Amino acid sequence: MDGNGRWARQRGKARTQGHLEGLSAAKRIVKAASTAGIRYLTLYVFSTENWKRTADEVGFIMGLVKKYLRGELDFYRENGIRIRHTGDIAGLPADIAGELASAMEETAAFTGLQVVLALNYGGRNEIVRAINRALSAGETSVNEKTIALYLDNPDIPDPDLVIRSAGEYRTSNFLLWEGAYAEYYVSPALWPDWTETEFHEALASYGRRERKYGAVL
Ligand code: FPP
Repeated sequence: MDGNGRWARQRGKARTQGHLEGLSAAKRIVKAASTAGIRYLTLYVFSTENWKRTADEVGFIMGLVKKYLRGELDFYRENGIRIRHTGDIAGLPADIAGELASAMEETAAFTGLQVVLALNYGGRNEIVRAINRALSAGETSVNEKTIALYLDNPDIPDPDLVIRSAGEYRTSNFLLWEGAYAEYYVSPALWPDWTETEFHEALASYGRRERKYGAVL
């Protein structure tokens, strides 16, 4: 969800204002994904590298997460949306981890769209944690199947599409393992400007792709 800072700067506003608008955009896209019948949507909210930002900005984003988890509960209930998490929960502030745990518990039985919040998430970090879990479980060597089994959400299928806003052509440590064969879509639109129109354009672009998984078709 890149471009919140640029969106704010273009308007002479504080970066935090960009994140606030980014939260509104996230709500729009969750709604659009739910309506479109998407099964899983992972939102990259806060990376393992984002702690390098100022304490004010970090605190503001964490506050938005809390607000989102609490404020959207009725919406999840009405739409059968299940909340999940990926990332290193141990490194999150206790109050955020607590909110996350209760949102996950309250929505655990819902069978509609699953929204995975990537919070304190890094793709390399997830792979390292998976390998350590495998070792703790007594595995003596790992292969692709065992690593996949110890990822944060082993039941969630690999993503078909990774969408990037604000015109950036990089992975930013997002779903490195799971996204090995994902299609990528980059839009110049800054994240706060995203509406269901941009989302449907991304889906339409995906619909035109020919997926080969390394084979010759
Ligand atoms: C990246 O843009 C954005 C973030 C690090 C924060 C994303 C957070 C939200 C959208 C709000 C919380 C959302 C939910 C669903 C709880 P940037 O700040 O790097 O933008 P820039 O590159 O233009 O400076």
